[in-house]
Amino acid sequence: MTQRPDGIRGVTITGTGMYVPDRVLTNHDLEQMVETSDEWIVERTGIRERRIAAPDQASSDLALIACRRALEMANVDAADVDQIVLATTTPDRILPSCACTLQQKLGATKAAAYDMFAACTGFIYGLGLARGLVGAGIADRVLVVGVETLSRIVDYTDRNTCVLFGDGAGAALLQACDTGVGVHAVDMHSDGELGEVLEVPAGISKNPASDRTVAAHEHYIRMQGKKLFPFAVRSMEDSTRRCALQAGWSPADVDLFIPHQANMRIIEGVRERLGLPEDRVYVNIDRYGNTSSASIPIALDECVRSGRLKPGDKLAMAAFGGGATWGASAMTWTIPVQRPATSSARPAKVREAVS
Ligand code: ACO
Repeated sequence: MTQRPDGIRGVTITGTGMYVPDRVLTNHDLEQMVETSDEWIVERTGIRERRIAAPDQASSDLALIACRRALEMANVDAADVDQIVLATTTPDRILPSCACTLQQKLGATKAAAYDMFAACTGFIYGLGLARGLVGAGIADRVLVVGVETLSRIVDYTDRNTCVLFGDGAGAALLQACDTGVGVHAVDMHSDGELGEVLEVPAGISKNPASDRTVAAHEHYIRMQGKKLFPFAVRSMEDSTRRCALQAGWSPADVDLFIPHQANMRIIEGVRERLGLPEDRVYVNIDRYGNTSSASIPIALDECVRSGRLKPGDKLAMAAFGGGATWGASAMTWTIPVQRPATSSARPAKVREAVS
């Protein structure tokens, strides 16, 4: 395997996997729950339906299926994984970490496992960390998983937020490869000044859970969507441009752009600013809504298994999220086209899970 003169190894994704729960919550279901309409949601966000975890499914259960699929694609045994980076805003519990619960369920007996809190940018942050670990030779196989059960922290009486979010998991295994392909650049940023634009006000050290916080719905997501919108477009564009530059590309060279799926109008804004045609931007927000840290790896796995990504393709991915956090990556794809996963069949509608 080729190495750079300084000994840094090339790093690539060798397997991807995703899982979404069977239960679907449609815009029409939401019309029965809050003052909203399918027309408003589709026009303002692009979302038509989202998946909702079953009552007995925690984040680690969703992550487990996505990780198994990624390891199967990479033909790597769970027992050979060195580290698990689990990006989430909705761990099973605060203690133990969701990553450790996943590590046990997966049988990743020798892996160090830890949670990463970077909201919707979590998968990009995880990719950046894993690239560093594998590139430096500290680890050989790092599993990065983005997983959310956001339905557990969404207030289904708040129409400003409840129409946006869904549940799901996506994973990628990172390993060493020849230099010149794989991950060329990962760009990561944060700005705590924007912290209160998207928050869960209570439940941990600043404002511990109490009867009062629960009565005030302070353990649910609160968002000032209008303030996030221009920041999201600007930050994803800037970060993608920086990554393309580091990779030696112009944005127009990108074969496939996978943006975080938060709002169709945000995706369109970034696409236009980068000068990319519609057919080079992957969109699945209509089917899953915003699954935060899971949105990019879910989309990535769909692209891999549908043949949308082929070896040699220039892939850019970009995200923004609460914190605020934002970032992007640029890589030359290396995995051959895969057979479709035995993923979830078109499910029955079940609104009861969240009402
Ligand atoms: N149905 C009907 N009307 C609604 C709904 C709804 N679901 N939600 C809000 N409205 C109303 C508002 O109350 C407002 O009414 P008013 O004018 O009488 O006050 C009107 O629609 C317009 O509201 P805006 O907030 O101006 O609507 P906007 O066009 O900005 O769209 C949205 C709102 C979709 C939230 C948009 O601002 C957005 O997508 N922002 C980015 C949010 C985002 O991406 N968040 C995720 C961050 S990632 C993470 O880390 C989790």
